[in-house]
Amino acid sequence: MSNFVKIKNKINRFNKKLFIDGDKSLSIRWALLSSQSLKKSRSSNLLLSEDVMSTLNCLKKLGVKVKISKNFCEIIGLGLNGFKYKKNLTLNAGNSGTLGRLILGLLVHSKKEIKIKGDKSLSKRDFLRVIKPLEKFGAKFNSNYGKLPIRIQGTNNSKPIKYYENNGSAQCKSAVMFAALNTQGETIIKAKKSRDHSELLFKNLKLPIKVIKRKKHDIIKIKGGKKIPALNYKIPSDISSAAFFVVLTALSKNSRLKIKNININPSRMGLLYILKLMGVKISKINIRNYKGEKVADLIIKSTNKIKPINCPVNLNSSAIDEFLLIFLIAAKAKGISYFKNLSELNQKESPRLEWGSKILNKIGVKNIVSKDSIKIYGNPNLRIKKKIIIKNFLKDHRVFMTSVIAALSLGGDWQIFDKNSINTSFPSFLKKIEYLGAIIE
Ligand code: S3P
Repeated sequence: MSNFVKIKNKINRFNKKLFIDGDKSLSIRWALLSSQSLKKSRSSNLLLSEDVMSTLNCLKKLGVKVKISKNFCEIIGLGLNGFKYKKNLTLNAGNSGTLGRLILGLLVHSKKEIKIKGDKSLSKRDFLRVIKPLEKFGAKFNSNYGKLPIRIQGTNNSKPIKYYENNGSAQCKSAVMFAALNTQGETIIKAKKSRDHSELLFKNLKLPIKVIKRKKHDIIKIKGGKKIPALNYKIPSDISSAAFFVVLTALSKNSRLKIKNININPSRMGLLYILKLMGVKISKINIRNYKGEKVADLIIKSTNKIKPINCPVNLNSSAIDEFLLIFLIAAKAKGISYFKNLSELNQKESPRLEWGSKILNKIGVKNIVSKDSIKIYGNPNLRIKKKIIIKNFLKDHRVFMTSVIAALSLGGDWQIFDKNSINTSFPSFLKKIEYLGAIIE
């Protein structure tokens, strides 16, 4: 079967309801934390994508029991510091930065050396950002100049650390939090704002964690060594996957979409805040609290007047996975939009600031990238008639899916490669696109 899609027509108007796959950040955290309990943990709506399967496979190699059935996933963990494995173990984190970085936190206490590798995209990404703080706990690392493959040799005498996380990276913060779980004494983290799923899960498990929220950063204090109870969890659906449909609806004519059961954790809501500032109509109904996470149904309507934005930098972290889509919306705005301080975008599965600019160039939208900023000259009358080919983007799932949304909302004759990349985070993406009425070859 070919590994590309062809899209030749815009999507027709639609008025539908959708249910999106489970949240990736929560699915990976659920699995990793459950492995640290001696009890049986159960989840439903776990995202069964490649990143999560890589997580479950790594845990199985570490001796953890994992059972996947139609409606549930069960994990019987081995407790803190309980992994059981043979010498010369290699774990494959595949495409997942979250898995690669968070699992290192749990391996700070590994008894035998473990090698971690990943795919071509993950092997280009920076791991020094987690190696440095984890070394302070006492673990020893051997890496390829801060990149994968990495060998980690844990310590049986880890020391609590003080750590300042200043990239706004939830992966770095969480890796340190996971290492602190099994370290006697108090680890103190000062972290620039980033998604707080790990903090909420720790609180839900009644672990000794204190979070003090300041304007620009949080102080997190964790006392290690406490046994972890079972973690039964119904994973809400992923706002970063819903995002593609939010933007498709906003850019399509006379359409309306209801998306059910979405995790609307404020630390993930940047896209919705930004779209609101740009004049897109989105409402949240049925807002509820699930184990500390906020969940709601979203209703999105088409918008024919999109306003440009000078995007407040304090929204960057809560929209970090959505910027390719945000640039696409800015392409249709009436005026010039500015986005700044986006160096973290080039730390993703592909250098996404570069890719955002490349997609804009391909659709004929003037844009200027300088260092970590982009200026986008929007055109409300943007229509595409030419042939556009998107390929060689390091199989970045979000580049693929954003290109599909661009094709369906702007027209043109598109050929988009590496369709299998959707399996990383959102395996049912194309089926859902077709359910809304799009024709994809
Ligand atoms: C994630 C954190 C973010 C995000 C990634 C998932 C997480 O990465 O881009 O998709 O689950 O912690 P950084 O922590 O590198 O910003």
